[in-house]
Amino acid sequence: MSTLKPKFLKPETDDAITDSAGHEEAAATSFVFNTNHNLGLQEQRERLPIRKYRDQILYCLEHHQVLILVGETGSGKSTQVPQYLYEWGWHTKGLIGITEPRRVATLTLANRVAEERGELIGATVGYVVRFMERFTAETHIKFMTEGILLRELLADPLLTQYGVIIVDEAHERNMLTDLLLGLLKKILRKRSNLKLIISSATIDASFFAEFFSWPGADQPISIKLTIEGRMHEVNHYYVNEPCADYVRETVETAWKLHQREPPGDILAFLTGQDEVLEARDLLQEYIASTETANLKVLPMYGSMSSTDQLSVFFTAPKGMRKVVLATNIAETSLTIPGIVYVIDSGYVKLKCFNPSTCSDSLVIVPVSKASAIQRAGRAGRLRPGKIFHLYTRQDYDALAPRQPPELRRSELSAAVLQLKALGIKNILRFDFPSPPPAKNLLAALELLYALNALDVDGELTQPVGYLLAELPFSAMLSKMLFVSGQLGCAEEIITIIAMLQVQSVFSRPASAAAQQMGRIAHRHFEVAEGDLVTLLNVHSAFVEAGMTKEFCGQYYLIYRNLKRACELREQLLNLIRRKYGIAIFSCKGDVELLCKCITAGFFTQVAYLHHSGVYRQISSGVELAIHPNSTLYTLPAAKYIVYGELLQTTKLFMNQVTVIRQEWLTELAPHYYQQTTVRD
Ligand code: CDP
Ligand code: MG
Repeated sequence: MSTLKPKFLKPETDDAITDSAGHEEAAATSFVFNTNHNLGLQEQRERLPIRKYRDQILYCLEHHQVLILVGETGSGKSTQVPQYLYEWGWHTKGLIGITEPRRVATLTLANRVAEERGELIGATVGYVVRFMERFTAETHIKFMTEGILLRELLADPLLTQYGVIIVDEAHERNMLTDLLLGLLKKILRKRSNLKLIISSATIDASFFAEFFSWPGADQPISIKLTIEGRMHEVNHYYVNEPCADYVRETVETAWKLHQREPPGDILAFLTGQDEVLEARDLLQEYIASTETANLKVLPMYGSMSSTDQLSVFFTAPKGMRKVVLATNIAETSLTIPGIVYVIDSGYVKLKCFNPSTCSDSLVIVPVSKASAIQRAGRAGRLRPGKIFHLYTRQDYDALAPRQPPELRRSELSAAVLQLKALGIKNILRFDFPSPPPAKNLLAALELLYALNALDVDGELTQPVGYLLAELPFSAMLSKMLFVSGQLGCAEEIITIIAMLQVQSVFSRPASAAAQQMGRIAHRHFEVAEGDLVTLLNVHSAFVEAGMTKEFCGQYYLIYRNLKRACELREQLLNLIRRKYGIAIFSCKGDVELLCKCITAGFFTQVAYLHHSGVYRQISSGVELAIHPNSTLYTLPAAKYIVYGELLQTTKLFMNQVTVIRQEWLTELAPHYYQQTTVRD
C-alpha cells in the first residue's frame, strides 16, 4: 500500500447537524432511488457526490485513526467507501467491516456492492446477519448488523481480524450503535493499527470527534469530512397560533398548497401509521368532493410492504401532484424524488423510559431542532422549496437541539446484559458516548437481579444470565422461554414469541364498517386469558387452514406478518434445538400452564384491579388502562394481569395483556414478591 496526497484537502470547519431519526421504524425497509439507473454501473459510481472525495477519504484515514464522514443520503457513503478502501489495498491489513442498524440494509448493500464489482455475493463482498450469511475465505468486505459485530467481540475482544471498521448510519444513535462505539473506543486505544470510520447522513461530528480523543496522542485521533451535496434554498413558513390537531392541519395545509402552489410534490411528516392512514382518509374526502383534484395520495410507513413502499418513488401521472404522508422513516433513511414542499407536524413517536413504571413506553413528543432542519432539507433536493412548520416560530426556537440517543431514554436491561457478557464489571463506569442516567442503569440491574440473571455481586448467572445475554429478545421474553423448558410448554411459548416479533397480525381497516367486520372476525380467536394466548390461537388457525391468503382475507389478518412469524418460529426452533438445550414440549392445551409461564417472565409488570375500578401497577401504584386493541378491553375485568408493553397517549395503556392468579406471583417469584406487598 502506498501513501497518498490529495491535491486539495479542505479543512473541516462547520459542524453538521446531529441525530434525528427515531428508532420506532426499526423494521423499515431500506430503499434506494437511483436517478442514474440507466447508466453503466461504473459510470454511476463516477457520478456520485462522494467520488470527488475519494482521495481525501484515503488520505484522512492514513493520518488519523478515526474518520467522521458526513454526507446526505444517496451520496455514496455505504456503497463506495468500502470499495475505495479495498481498491487502495486496505484489505491486506485485515477485513473491511461495515455495520448497519438494519438487516435489510445489510443484505441490499452487500448485494449492490458485489454487483458493482461484477462479482457474486460471497466472493470479495459478503454479509453476515443473524440466521444468514454469505461469507467465505475470499471475502474482504464484510457487511453485518451491529448485533453481529457485538457478538464477535465475545470471541475476539480486540477484533483482530479487522483492519477497518465502518459504523454506518451512526446518526441514529440507537442502543447498539452507542454500545459499539463505546467498545470500539477501548479497542482503538489498544490497537493503533485499527481504523474506524463513522458514517452518517446527519451527525454531530464534533461530538464524536470529542468522544474519540484521548490524552497522550501526538496528533488528533479523529478528523471530520463533509461531503457536500447539491442543496437548494428552502423558505420556512410557520403558523401564527399553535394548532390543536396536527393531523387535520396537515391535511388542510396539503390541500391549500395543492390549490395555490405551482407543480411540485408534497411530503408530510406525521408520527405513526395510524396518523398517516387517518390523514390519507381525510385527504381522500377532500378529493372526492371535487371533480378534478389531480392529487395522488401515498402513505409511507415502516410496516408497509416493500412493493407498497416502492410506489412513493414513482413520478405522479402527468398533470397530477403527488402527496406522500410519511412517518420519520422519510427523514434520513431514504430520499423521495420530486419533493418541493414539506409539511412538518413537529412531532415524532419515540420509545422512552418511564421512571414511574420502570419500563419503556411509546410517547409522541416534539421533534428536535435537528430533525426539523433535516425535514426541511427534504424540500430542497430538486429546486428551491418550501417548508410549512405546523408550529409557531417561538416553538421552533424552543425545540431541543437534538433528540437524546436511545441509550439515554430506554430501558437498559439488554445493554447491561451485553456489557456483562463482554466482561465489563462496572457498568456505571463504562465509557458510553452519552452516559445514560444512573437510575436507569440501576433499574436495569434490579430487573436482571429479579429475573435471576445477575447474582448478588452483579455477575451473570449460569445458566439463566448467559442465556438471557445470548438470546435475541428482551430479558423478560427470554426468561419466559427459559422457564417454558422447565414447565413443558416451550413449543407454544416459542410460537408466542415469534408472533410478538412481527408487526400486528390483525388488520385494522380504516372505514368504520370494515372495522366492525374486522372486530367480529377477530373474536374467533379471542380468549379470556388475554392477548398472548389469542396470538397462539391465530397462529394455530392459520397453520390449520393451510397458511393461505384467503384465510387471512376472511378473518382480517395480515398475511405477510403471519407468514414472517411462521418463518421466525422455524428459525427459532432450530436455533434452540441446536444451541440452547431448552426441552421443547407442548403443553397440549393446558392454558393455565401457559399463563403461569408468561407470569414467570413478566412478573415485574403486574397490574391489579383497584376497588375504584381502575388498574394500578402493583409495584408503583401508577394507574394503567387496558389498550382498546387488547382482547381484554371488552371483557369483564380480571383481578390480576401482566402486560408486555406500555403505550403513552391520552393515558398509559397496557398491551399484550394476560390474566394471572395472585398466588402465582409468590410461587414463581418469591424473592421479588417477599418485599412488595400483594394488594387486594
Ligand atoms: O450511503 P449513502 O446514502 O450515502 O449512499 P449509498 O447507499 O452508497 O448509495 C449511493 C447511490 O448508489 C444511491 O444514490 C443509488 O443511486 C445507488 N444505489 C443503488 O442503486 N442500489 C442500491 N442497493 C444501493 C445504492
Ligand atoms: Mg448509507
